[in-house]
Amino acid sequence: MQRETRKPQMPDASPEEITYDRIMAHSDTLPPTANPAQEHDSLASARQRLIVALDVPAAPAAIELVRRLEGTCAWFKVGLELFVAAGPSILEPILARGHSVFLDLKFHDIPNTVAGAVRSAAHMGARMMTVHASGGPAMLAAARAALDGVTNPPELLAVTMLTSMDTEQMSAVGFDRAPSEEVELLAAMALNAGMRGFVCSPQEVAAVRALAGPAATLVVPGIRPAGAEAGDQKRIATPSDTLRLGASYLVVGRPITQAPDPAAAAAAILNEMATAL
Ligand code: C5P
Repeated sequence: MQRETRKPQMPDASPEEITYDRIMAHSDTLPPTANPAQEHDSLASARQRLIVALDVPAAPAAIELVRRLEGTCAWFKVGLELFVAAGPSILEPILARGHSVFLDLKFHDIPNTVAGAVRSAAHMGARMMTVHASGGPAMLAAARAALDGVTNPPELLAVTMLTSMDTEQMSAVGFDRAPSEEVELLAAMALNAGMRGFVCSPQEVAAVRALAGPAATLVVPGIRPAGAEAGDQKRIATPSDTLRLGASYLVVGRPITQAPDPAAAAAAILNEMATAL
């Protein structure tokens, strides 16, 4: 059923005029995902659950995208492409405009190195960051311990299995289980290592939610509105289906960033999300 389309706020304002309160009225009050019935404003809730992946090669392109999505989206993901090109300072203009940042650097190294990287990243102002679950329990424990004593630390998420991996890609690197089994194994291991946030594909979100419980944070990429190009993503689903399966946040890149009108594409996704909230 189509819900009424609310006109997205599109303030044409300079960064100075855009206050945190104006854009992020609900930024610190993300409700537990498992109980969407308590949410009064499903579109506002959808805005707090959509993360736009800024997969662009330079700071000006990222800032232009943020500007175009201002008033429509509240969360942006800085991943490897942008971080490597632009450096940590790329977070500053995004944060200064009042947005939340998901720093998706997917650390995977020996425990000591990952702990150091987590410590370095912990003060950049991001609200979530990632490590690879396949780094193992000692690496995950070291990553968590690195945040001890950090004021207002980012939430640490364990990436289970990349959404671009299918059975063929997995068996090429020696993972012989089905993707769903591998994800459950990694999520259970990460849970035992104290992780409470996970990244998984839409196809495993229900199983990871069942395993990790209602309070866990599940961040889900591999989102494609019906009819959108899959690109390199293999394990995909629509925004509304993914929320119904138990996702906390959806990560969407190309369906928004490569659209002729990114704000219109984001607004359509938000409206679809709101039908599931
Ligand atoms: O363009 P698209 O919507 O496919 O972008 C998905 C984003 O989510 C990318 O930035 C990618 O790095 C990220 N991601 C993913 N699979 C994971 C973790 C993160 O696709 N398991």
